[in-house]
Amino acid sequence: MEKMRIWNGYFMLLVCVLFSVSGNDDGSMTEHSLELTQSLNLARQELIQDACRRFPLKWSLDELTPSQFEHILVDDDHKLLYCYVPKVACTNWKRVLMILAGKWNDTDVLSIPASLAHSPGMFRNLSTVSKEDRVAMLENYHKMIIVRNPFERLLSAYRNKLEGETQSAKYFQNRVGKRIIRAYRENPSNESLEHGHDVTFKEFAMFLTNKSEELADVVNNEHWQPITNLCHPCLIKYTLVGKYETLLDDSLLALHTINASHIQFPRLIHTSGTAEKLHGYFSQLDLPLIRRLYKLYKYDYRLFNYDLDNIVGYDLG
Ligand SMILES: *[C@@H]1O[C@H](CO)[C@@H](O)[C@H](O)[C@H]1NC(C)=O
Ligand SMILES: *[C@@H]1O[C@H](CO)[C@@H](O)[C@H](O)[C@H]1NC(C)=O
Ligand SMILES: *[C@@H]1O[C@H](CO)[C@@H](O)[C@H](O)[C@H]1NC(C)=O
Ligand SMILES: *[C@@H]1O[C@H](CO)[C@@H](O)[C@H](O)[C@H]1NC(C)=O
Ligand SMILES: *[C@@H]1O[C@H](CO)[C@@H](O)[C@H](O)[C@H]1NC(C)=O
Repeated sequence: MEKMRIWNGYFMLLVCVLFSVSGNDDGSMTEHSLELTQSLNLARQELIQDACRRFPLKWSLDELTPSQFEHILVDDDHKLLYCYVPKVACTNWKRVLMILAGKWNDTDVLSIPASLAHSPGMFRNLSTVSKEDRVAMLENYHKMIIVRNPFERLLSAYRNKLEGETQSAKYFQNRVGKRIIRAYRENPSNESLEHGHDVTFKEFAMFLTNKSEELADVVNNEHWQPITNLCHPCLIKYTLVGKYETLLDDSLLALHTINASHIQFPRLIHTSGTAEKLHGYFSQLDLPLIRRLYKLYKYDYRLFNYDLDNIVGYDLG
């Protein structure tokens, strides 16, 4: 209990809650008016700009390499740039983009296999656009990003890729899990070394916070890279800033904005219960480790107005 209080105090200081713009960020999926959603959207944009002004930027837009634009998908017909973020509804939005581009006939978004929506080469991204066109698009197109609580996204990636049993999970366990176990487990079993299938959340957290060059390639995987690194929200002024917590409203606004309201964004999002499990998983980590992890996602926390209420306990609010 004492430990918890110190911990709360520390983060009360650390977490910079500029002001709360998102009164309905409570996971409710009731629909709100487009006007209300748009005013939230504008407030979020302002908050990003305010937060960005507080940080010295490492780069200017000019200095980004083409590959740093590769998460931004291009739809010329609807003048839309969408920076996709794994673990933040990106499968459904990729499906929508397929329908918009005429790559799928049915208007039922969920009828598209997820693997198809993620297949390489399905979409054009901004890395292959000439600099001149890129500048024009960034100036004139709608620019969408959908964000999520950083630790919730992180846990979602862990549960999906390192705990899961899907093909994709097996791939990650083989490629990433084995390396984590080799680096962090004392006396690993042969089975763990061979399959990488039982990485604990703590081992995963230690691996992510390891600054060694040797691990950098997997630490920088898109599934857990900070959104700020993938989408550069201080350099690109996103005009549609959605949140996972208000996904339906924000998606309806985006579809309305690009004249694609005929598409039914899936209402029934199946939740994997990540938010509810957050406290349990993070209680396996000690305070210094959580602090190092927080540092990695500091910009995501501040720019997108999240805080650590859901990690540090229920007595904060
Ligand atoms: C971006 O497009 C290039 C060229 O088509 C492709 O090689 C690359 O994998 C794409 N990047 C992403 C993240 O989809
Ligand atoms: C769309 O449907 C038509 C008629 O069923 C079919 O011929 C065509 O191949 C389909 N196109 C795509 C991209 O699926
Ligand atoms: C684990 O692998 C090593 C080296 O291949 C082998 O010597 C050892 O007997 C194995 N241990 C078990 C418990 O299978
Ligand atoms: C970081 O990873 C490297 C390479 O696997 C390892 O040698 C080192 O002990 C790790 N450092 C920490 C602090 O865990
Ligand atoms: C949407 O459609 C309306 C009416 O057809 C048109 O005036 C408007 O320019 C369109 N907007 C976009 C972003 O294409």
